Amino acid sequence: MHSLGILGVGELTEKVVQGLRRSGFSGAILLSPRNAERAERLAREHACQVMADNQAVVDGADLVLLGVRPASLGELAAQVQLRPGQHLLSLAAGINLEQLAGAFAGAQCVRVMLSYAAQYNQSTVVVCPSDPLTEQALGALGNLVVIEDEAAFELATVAACMNGWFYFLLHDLQQWLSDKGLPADQARALVLGNLQDCLSSAREQPEHTLKALGEAIATPGTFTADGLAVLTHQPVSATWGAACEVVLDGLLTRSR
Ligand SMILES: NC(=O)c1ccc[n+]([C@@H]2O[C@H](COP(=O)([O-])OP(=O)(O)OC[C@H]3O[C@@H](n4cnc5c(N)ncnc54)[C@H](OP(=O)(O)O)[C@@H]3O)[C@@H](O)[C@H]2O)c1
Repeated sequence: MHSLGILGVGELTEKVVQGLRRSGFSGAILLSPRNAERAERLAREHACQVMADNQAVVDGADLVLLGVRPASLGELAAQVQLRPGQHLLSLAAGINLEQLAGAFAGAQCVRVMLSYAAQYNQSTVVVCPSDPLTEQALGALGNLVVIEDEAAFELATVAACMNGWFYFLLHDLQQWLSDKGLPADQARALVLGNLQDCLSSAREQPEHTLKALGEAIATPGTFTADGLAVLTHQPVSATWGAACEVVLDGLLTRSR
């Protein structure tokens, strides 16, 4: 069983540790010492080791997961030397393979993208490019999507931001129901339940487009169609598209 080193013990890598342990992964997990309180809590609750410094993490691990923010990458790269061919799995959004290879000479770099659902083993796990060891190491965190092309990976990063945005849309819908008098827990159950119904149906029918599945429900004369007419008249999709463009621009600027 491989050992995993984590450089940057933050919000996302915490969920990775929780998800790996939840999945039964019993290999060593070595943590960088910065953010000591969180590292020590993870060590206590999930049988990890907090190492003396970043190089000790690298030296003791088969694979290294890079969990610092892009702005901290230069500082971190100056602190460690990876072994030739050692796997470096980078979560840093917008930092491309060429930049990683420049910063971590000799390492075998792979880009990965996850969401907080990794802690429940239900994240979308995007890997670029295909790498069997990475896929084996992180596959337990959810559903693997393997991408060969970096331009597509940047789009997958935009999709990962959608995960965060969905909460705000769902919140607004819940709030509307609550404002009309539903208790908050019922409003939440109804919004999440109806979303779950949509996800289940869509997953079961990959042969139909998402639009066709919606159109099959919003047939003429239905209440769904009445509401859809309003949504089509004032398309929120334009606003969502603008948000996607802003993120994609930011990612591409960073990787230039
Ligand atoms: N959060 C998400 O939903 C998400 C989704 C996809 C991808 N990502 C990517 O995942 C990465 C982590 O994001 P995050 O939100 O988890 O960030 P975060 O909570 O800020 O965690 C980053 C951690 O790295 C530590 N760090 C900084 N420099 C370090 C160094 N030289 N050595 C060791 N540790 C160092 C930071 O410590 P200090 O606090 O002391 O600086 C912090 O604990 C980012 O690159 C981001 O692009 C995040």
